[in-house]
Amino acid sequence: MTNEELMENAKAATRFSYAPYSNFKVGAALLTEDGELYTGCNIENASYGATNCAERTAIFKAVSEGKKKITKIAVAAGDGSTAYPCGICLQVMQEFMPEGTILLEEHGIIVSYSLKELLPKGFTL
Ligand code: THU
Repeated sequence: MTNEELMENAKAATRFSYAPYSNFKVGAALLTEDGELYTGCNIENASYGATNCAERTAIFKAVSEGKKKITKIAVAAGDGSTAYPCGICLQVMQEFMPEGTILLEEHGIIVSYSLKELLPKGFTL
């Protein structure tokens, strides 16, 4: 799958975003080591703190089906702005895609980052 196709899947995943509190819809699409596609959206909560970001939804879907090696994840905001992954999502990426790539759209252009660029000193045990 091309980067463009993965980003299209991330945008499509915003369709199921549950964001009644922020109205900020986010979608994510990832590829596992064996080429499987998983998507996710942000799921908010009245408590705010129980909100799950789109990236973690997609990652947890993959891991919960036995896919623990992720190579690439695309993230898209429904309003076309750039959704930089939050610190918690970066730490979850550290666990399941330490050598992985993050695709973001900046001013309509897909930009590729390594996790190491966005989280240079992620926590590991
Ligand atoms: N959010 C994501 O889903 N991913 C990001 O990369 C940034 C933030 C969500 C969480 C919350 O539902 C909303 O965006 C506003 O913070």
